[in-house]
Amino acid sequence: MTATLSQFNFMSPEVVEDPIQANAVARREAPVYQLPGTPIFMISTYDLIAEACAQPAVFSNDFSGALQGNAREDEQIKAVIATGWPQVNTLLTADPPVHTRFRKLVNLAFSPARVNKVEAHVEKIVDDLIDRFIDTGRCEFVKEFGVGLPLTVISDQLGAPRADIALFKQWSDAFADRLGGMLTRDQELACAHQVVAFQHYMKARLEERRESPKDDLLSDLVNARIEDERPLDTAELLSIVQQLLVAGNETTTNSLAAGVLYLIQNPAEEAKVRANPDLIKNMVEEVLRLETPTNSMWRVVKQDAVLGGVKIPAGSTALLRFGSGNRDESRFAQPDKFDVERRNVHMHLAFGRGIHSCVGAMLSRKEMQVAFRRILARMKNLRLGADNDLKHHTNLLLRGLKKLNIEFDKA
Ligand code: HEM
Repeated sequence: MTATLSQFNFMSPEVVEDPIQANAVARREAPVYQLPGTPIFMISTYDLIAEACAQPAVFSNDFSGALQGNAREDEQIKAVIATGWPQVNTLLTADPPVHTRFRKLVNLAFSPARVNKVEAHVEKIVDDLIDRFIDTGRCEFVKEFGVGLPLTVISDQLGAPRADIALFKQWSDAFADRLGGMLTRDQELACAHQVVAFQHYMKARLEERRESPKDDLLSDLVNARIEDERPLDTAELLSIVQQLLVAGNETTTNSLAAGVLYLIQNPAEEAKVRANPDLIKNMVEEVLRLETPTNSMWRVVKQDAVLGGVKIPAGSTALLRFGSGNRDESRFAQPDKFDVERRNVHMHLAFGRGIHSCVGAMLSRKEMQVAFRRILARMKNLRLGADNDLKHHTNLLLRGLKKLNIEFDKA
């Protein structure tokens, strides 16, 4: 029997875990679908997601207030926040013209030259992580590799000593949870404490870079200048750095783990990549398309709109389903297949579209490409280990495996 849309609760843990069939039904029956009893309009097809991304004045990224909900009015939370710097909207949660200015300045720091310089460093981090478990023939890949790579890269680039990496992980997790928009009041309070602790920590690193710049991303950010523009101030820099943690860590971790799982589950595709490592770049894009670590993203609808023939009133919330767009059969043939040679894979929406498209795309691609090159070179006969349920975190926006036990032979 053909499934119908009303069968699915898109907010339920079951659909968050396995959204493939529900998304396919949404694309077919109602590509713009108001979730029953909510002001949320879900947008599921490739073309309509791209259309919404192209209209930032209508589908706005000014959603930070909505995420905080009542927490903004809570006296205790306000008192905690007051001990830090104001939380200004800069990139992800800003609209033009504010967004335009910040994006220009941050683009300067994420230059191709900077990313290329990081490459040798990435390779060293990758090999160090693999060294820790290579002789055992097994690892829990998420914890022992996936988390460590982006976290070490970004904390090195932000001038934190390696001893403080655990702090960065804690902050990054707290900020990512908040992005899901489902925190209780107590969790919001805990998050406020984390934000302020992070701000004070990073403020000290910013001062160090102002006084003596180094060859790293944080120095580039502190010193970024565009003619006629004043440099970024402390609150702005803190906001940007906070977003780099939210946006860059979990997403890259999740792509790495998904990639290893796809290789294990698709031995013929793995054999192709082993035979021709030049395919790794394309394979990374295919992993991003199929897994779509930023599976959905919010927009606030600022004006009455019509999308795909459906009226969306001002004040509604839109949920862009990037993960669904990436499996849209009108764009990708056999969309659920893992095909390392897929020709049009670069069209995917895993890094978003339009003015907010991912500023860290080049960096995370580099991390993934180096990681898979070294994993394939150093580990053969990759296989699943014991005790895997292959379940994902229950997060509406960020998709990622909770754990992945693997076994392998040392190459
Ligand atoms: C596989 C890894 C990654 C994925 C899948 C990913 C995905 C995305 C997506 C879909 C967006 C667009 C959000 C929207 O339209 O509202 C985005 C924006 C962003 N990403 Fe990434 N990202 C990744 C890695 C990174 C890294 C490594 C960094 C930085 C170190 C980063 C920083 C950002 C920032 C700051 C934004 C906001 C840009 C803006 O609003 O102008 N991301 N990312």
